[in-house]
Amino acid sequence: MNTLPTRVLKIDPTSPDPAVIHEAAALIRAGQLVAFPTETVYGLGANALDALAVDRIYQAKGRPATDPVIVHVQAAQQVAELTTHIPDVARALIDAFWPGPLTLVLSRGPRVPPNVSAGLPTVAIRMPAHPVALALITAAGVPVAAPSANLFAHPSPTTAQHVLHDLDGKIALILDAGPTQVGVESTILDISANHPRLLRPGGVSLDTLRRIVPEVEVVTRYVRADEGAVPAPGMLLKHYSPRAELRLFDGPDEAVRVALSQAAAELTRQGFHVGLLVADEDRAALSLPGVSLVSLGSLGDLSQVAQRLFAGLRDLDARGVDVILARAYPPAGIGMAIQDRLIRAAQGRVTYV
Ligand code: TXA
Ligand code: MG
Repeated sequence: MNTLPTRVLKIDPTSPDPAVIHEAAALIRAGQLVAFPTETVYGLGANALDALAVDRIYQAKGRPATDPVIVHVQAAQQVAELTTHIPDVARALIDAFWPGPLTLVLSRGPRVPPNVSAGLPTVAIRMPAHPVALALITAAGVPVAAPSANLFAHPSPTTAQHVLHDLDGKIALILDAGPTQVGVESTILDISANHPRLLRPGGVSLDTLRRIVPEVEVVTRYVRADEGAVPAPGMLLKHYSPRAELRLFDGPDEAVRVALSQAAAELTRQGFHVGLLVADEDRAALSLPGVSLVSLGSLGDLSQVAQRLFAGLRDLDARGVDVILARAYPPAGIGMAIQDRLIRAAQGRVTYV
């Protein structure tokens, strides 16, 4: 339902104009939706203490009510009003990683409406490291609930244009501060029970996390929608999916290039428009006639690959390809988050060569 004129306001990413922030904050306080940049991806923000405003997030995204959202704060002290208990490990993690791409799952306090957490007894909280996000949350005077500002199951938005493409007419305002830095979402760590559990790899790598919580257990799983109950939110296999079918190829570089080139040639011969999502080092082996190629950057710079990943998926969709053939990346550091997003985008269609 397209009912709202969606406004896009440019804002300086390092020193945001107070007048623009003031306007955006007034909308949040009035129960409206504002998309804003964080260091990871753009978020779709609403007053986290207003259940009706949070409900609008689910409606705008077409997001199932079973998928909880993250509450964003601008200071560590704000955590106290959102949870019933702050374990010692939370304080250590907050000192080490906030502001930054780490979301902590804690026990949910009585002020947080149940729909923020899809009815769970926990709440996910993070303090983003982006001047615009921090200024907006501060001016709003309330914690800001925000999932990624894309339609449900689509690739996350790393530019204001991506947000507009998905949500034009459904939200009041988009703050446009240019492309986001990290490019993949925050790491989600559940510390609401005795053992810290990694629910989603993201901007803070597992190695870095383990310096503070050596005992962290990785419980990321891939569950098909038809398999019945999903053990925890965010574990659905299908996610971040482009319109085109994506197939992922994993293995040694040379073998991956051979497999990509053979698959691209065969699909092209069958009449499909093929998109290749690869790295700079693959270019020479893979410039094939009639095939659209997007490189995410060098294999030696996975931060750049992460930053460009979602834009690359959207770019190939915009070029109208029927199928995207993508290479996998080494799952170390930020590579673990890249691999996770690609497996979900591929809905499990991975070829090991
Ligand atoms: O970097 C990010 O995390 C971005 C920016 C905008 O902050 N946010 C984001 O939210 O990516 P998104 O669309 O991934 O949605 C929040 C996810 C849920 O899908 C779920 O996996 C997890 O956070 N989550 C939220 N609340 C949770 C809870 N109480 N328990 C477990 N997981 C939760
Ligand atoms: Mg999302």
